[in-house]
Parts: sequence; structure tokens; C-alpha cells
Amino acid sequence: MDKIKIRGGKQLNGKIYIGGAKNAALPLITATLLTEDEVILSNVPALSDVTFLNKLLIELGTQIEETIVQDGEYTSKTYTYQTKNFKSLTAPYDFVRKMRASYYVLGPMLARAHHAELSLPGGCAIGARPMDIHLNSLEMMGAQIEIKNGYVIADAPEGLKGAHIIFPKASVGATCNILMAATLAEGETVIENAAKEPEIGDLIDLLNDMGAQIEGRDRSVLTVHGVQKLHGATHSVLSDRIEAGSYAVAAAITKGCIELVHAKEEHLEVPLYILKKMGVQITPTENSVIVDARHADMQGVDIMTDYYPGFPTDLQAQFMALMTVTPGASMVSETIWENRFMHVPELMRMGANINVHGHASAIVRGVKKLSGAPVMATDLRASFALVLAGLVAEGETVVNRVYHLDRGYERLEEKLQSVGADIERVHEDD
Ligand code: EPZ
Repeated sequence: MDKIKIRGGKQLNGKIYIGGAKNAALPLITATLLTEDEVILSNVPALSDVTFLNKLLIELGTQIEETIVQDGEYTSKTYTYQTKNFKSLTAPYDFVRKMRASYYVLGPMLARAHHAELSLPGGCAIGARPMDIHLNSLEMMGAQIEIKNGYVIADAPEGLKGAHIIFPKASVGATCNILMAATLAEGETVIENAAKEPEIGDLIDLLNDMGAQIEGRDRSVLTVHGVQKLHGATHSVLSDRIEAGSYAVAAAITKGCIELVHAKEEHLEVPLYILKKMGVQITPTENSVIVDARHADMQGVDIMTDYYPGFPTDLQAQFMALMTVTPGASMVSETIWENRFMHVPELMRMGANINVHGHASAIVRGVKKLSGAPVMATDLRASFALVLAGLVAEGETVVNRVYHLDRGYERLEEKLQSVGADIERVHEDD
């Protein structure tokens, strides 16, 4: 199992290229199941979650071609997907248990093939992560849903029908799944209280390019007029705002200056506002955002995670790492996930002063120095928080179980080395 070793104390300066968004790529990949034509996705990030989802689509009958694209210093991947026919309509436990976003195949398979069998994803480190909103909505669209032996068996022999659906929570996953299902449903589907994350806008752009009729992009009421068939399209995956936000914190925590190439300021308004409030200088350019903390006199601030456009829960752990070494006290409230403070005990082992109240809030009091330590990664974003702490801790930090990081951060150690970090990946036989 690989480890990442970091020797803290380096100020990070330079350019980091931000890749395509994991949380856009995953639904975009499953949207290719909605047509028998070729769909070409460019700027797809080289992440284990993407590799995994591609393997699942191959199981279902998709042909996939991959090409590497070099644009100056920037490397990305382009994939061509084509599912002429399904050879299976089952997403097996082996796939789904390792990557819950496999459940994105449910909407497309039901819409196009009128049947789908999907292993229930089960929980993960950050919470129970139920699917009730997905399933209840599909039932409202005429699907018969049965849970048997840990599988969802979904059937819609006459195809799906449009419905007026009100989400109890603005679920990103349910918005994507129901949007994809509704594109081929008979009649009109209205989704109220839909999630408005930029990744959903990216999915709507692809679906409409494929011939879908979706109105309400970036708003919480989406209207879909079902069509008979969708056709092929070409689409470039949106830049990853969470990867960009994570490296913005790397600049802030090391008091350095990093240009985040391809980052979009408009998708990071609240996190960048928080960094500005902490004293960091933020400068958007034509194709990047420059984060300059070299002269920042930082002070702690409070953050509360919320649905987009509020503060993203996927940046909570990274900002908490920053607060552990920022003078003053900061309150961190997590409102989306019930168990997303697993980075706290690991940060405390490095000398952080954090007090967790219940499940949902923590007080962080800045300390002068963290000390390097062997730490354990638990979930994707918590792992990045440990890397950030290691960048400023005295001595060496070893982050174990870096497979968590590889799910969502492409070539993390190379990108940090390129701006001066003393970091290396150590391959260790199990
Ligand atoms: C997506 O997860 C992201 N994953 C998560 O990012 C992100 O944290 C989350 O949205 C919130 O922004 C992907 O896009 C692949 P939700 P998702 O459905 O869709 C409850 C990362 O680090 N809920 O928006 O699973 C749920 O329990 C990952 O990249 C139900 O109650 O999240 C949560 O409290 C981690 N019933 C809230 O809604 C349901 O049927 C939001 O969850 C579905 C969700």
C-alpha cells in the first residue's frame, strides 16, 4: 500500500494545473448510456473513481476508447463511449461497494432499457448515504422498485413517465440520476429543490447537447420534456472546483503564492471569500485564479457547510487544517454529512487544538506549530487535509492509505512538488 511522505516547512510558489472535476465526470460518464451513439468526453481526470466507473460500463456493454491529450504542460484524457446494446443490466456489489457513484447507472439504464439491478451502495466513512430520494422519485415516475438481497431491482416495462417531484433535500446524486432518467421519460418532469452544483450544470449541458430538453440550469426548479431518443455529442469536463479549492488552501497554509490554472473563480465564490476574510489575496485572471498569502496576516474565521452555492462540505476538512495553524479561534460546522470530522483525531495527533461538539461542530484554536507524525487517511477530503497539515508541520509526516487520495486527486505529489513541496510517494508492498 502506497504512502506519502512530507517534510514540512516549504513555502509553495508557482503554477498548478487543475484537472476535470471528478464529481462532474462520474455522472457525465453514465449519461453516455442514454444513447446508442458515440459520446466523446474530453478533460476527463485520471482518477481511480473514473477507472472504476469505466470498468462498470464495460460490464454493462459499453465500448470505451482512451486517448491521452497533451496541451503544453497540461495532460488530460479523452474517452469515447459507445453502448450499442446492453449486455447486462446489473451493477454488481463488487463494483458498487467500492464506488458508490456507480448508482448513477440506475437512471440511464431504467430510462433506456426499462430495467436495472443495482447493489445498494451501503454507507461510507462520512455517513449512511441513503438512496431514498433517488428511489422514491423513480417510483413517482412509474418504476416498480424492490429491495432484495441487498439489491435494488427497478422495473419500468412501459418506460418511465414524467412526474412533479419535490426533493426533501437538495441531493446532488438524486438530481443527476432523476435528470438522466427524465430525459427519455414520457411527458414532462419537474424537479423542485434540485441541487445547483456547477457539476449539475455541466451534466445538463451534455444532456441538452445529446438532444434532451432541460430548462432551469443553475436554478432549484428543473423542467425536463421527455424525448424519444438521444444522440451522440462531444463535451469537455468542467474544471474541478474542489481540487482548485484544495490547492488554494495549500498556498494559504504555506503562506505562498500559487496560480491555479483552469480554476473558475465563479465556482469558488464562498471559499475564496473566506480566504480573503482570512487575509489572503485572490486575483482571478482569464484562465486561472492566483492565491497569494505571502503577505497575509491571517486570522481565524467561522465556516458552515451548506448546499451550493454555500460553503462546500468537500472543502471543510481542508479549511480546518488551515485553521489549526491560523491565529485565533475558528468554528467549523458540518451540516451535510453526519460523520465528516474524521480528520480531527489525526490533526490532533499532529498537535492541533480542536474541540468537537456533538457531530456537527468543532472549535479550532490556532497553534504556533504542528509536528509531523504518521497519520491515517480515512476519506478522500480528510486525507488531503492531512497532506496540508504535513506541508507546515515540523519534521516528517507519513500519510498512510493514500488510495483514498487517488480517488479524487490526480498526481497530487507531482503537482505539489512542482510548486516546491518536499513530498514523495513511497511504494510499499502490502
Ligand atoms: C455528492 O455526493 C458528492 N459526490 C459528494 O462529494 C458531496 O459531498 C455531496 O454531493 C454533497 O455536496 C459526488 O458527486 C460523486 P447528496 P451525494 O446526495 O450525491 C442526503 C467527494 O468528496 N441524501 O447531495 O452522495 C445525504 O445523506 C464526495 O467528492 C438522502 O437523505 O450527496 C446528505 O445528507 C463526498 N437521501 C445530503 O442528502 C438520498 O437519497 C446530500 O447528499 C440522497 C442523499
